[in-house]
Amino acid sequence: MLKVNNISKVYEGKIPYRALTDINISVDKGEFVGIMGPSGSGKTTLLNTIATIDEPTTGEIEIEGKNPHALSRKQLAIFRRRELGFVFQDFNLLHTLTVEENIVLPLTLDQKPVKEMKEKVAKIAETLGISDILPKRTYEISGGQIQRAAVARAMIHDPKLVLADEPTGNLDSKASKDVMELLTLMNEQLQTTMILVTHDAQAASYCDRVLFIRDGSLYSEIYKGDSRQVFFQKIIDTLSLMGGNDNDFSSVRI
Ligand SMILES: Nc1ncnc2c1ncn2[C@@H]1O[C@H](COP(=O)(O)OP(=O)(O)O)[C@@H](O)[C@H]1O
Ligand SMILES: [Mg+2]
Repeated sequence: MLKVNNISKVYEGKIPYRALTDINISVDKGEFVGIMGPSGSGKTTLLNTIATIDEPTTGEIEIEGKNPHALSRKQLAIFRRRELGFVFQDFNLLHTLTVEENIVLPLTLDQKPVKEMKEKVAKIAETLGISDILPKRTYEISGGQIQRAAVARAMIHDPKLVLADEPTGNLDSKASKDVMELLTLMNEQLQTTMILVTHDAQAASYCDRVLFIRDGSLYSEIYKGDSRQVFFQKIIDTLSLMGGNDNDFSSVRI
């Protein structure tokens, strides 16, 4: 459903910086793919080119056979809003709105009927275990609950592809595990394709496959197989083989 064809990215500036070199990735519908690599290796740049937030310098992205970067600005905005879902490290919820208002935001932008919105929120809130906090504001709930609300918002419009950049980066290990279990549940129930950028081997172990990038190039990829524990160990081993700054992986947890 997603193809990354020979993507390179050079940030222009006084000293041009090559952030990605000849990246090729193919992701099937319903797959849950992790992306790991040291700080500055190009993970966010890669995710942003897939998210159409940033343009590749060369190469193409295909989502369900179409190149979103070829759309007009207006079409692109609609494409992003309807087909993609986003979860970020800093949650990105609006503090002036209630949890419910935050979750329905993608639908209000598309002017869906209120009844349909209410039903959808109720359903997803139940799945994610946040029904009781819907009337609250973000400063009244915990980080873990905020991130669940962010997951609900990313999924409320049944996107084809969910992109998450360090969604557990600001969470403790319990809340982090919760969020990964929810993403896995949504991935399994709805067959939503997901791409997760993370520093955290524990979080990455929930994926079906993990890609490793170093210095802007693909370094290796490994598949989960039957056991998450075994996969976790393989991820740790690959990270240590790959080297880089040890501090980058300080969030390793068992
Ligand atoms: N807008 C930008 N302009 C110039 N350089 C950038 C920009 N964004 C990122 N970079 C550089 O590109 C490299 C990759 O960054 P990034 O994709 O954010 O890495 P990661 O998410 O793996 O930490 C880094 O060296 C970073 O400094
Ligand atoms: Mg990043």
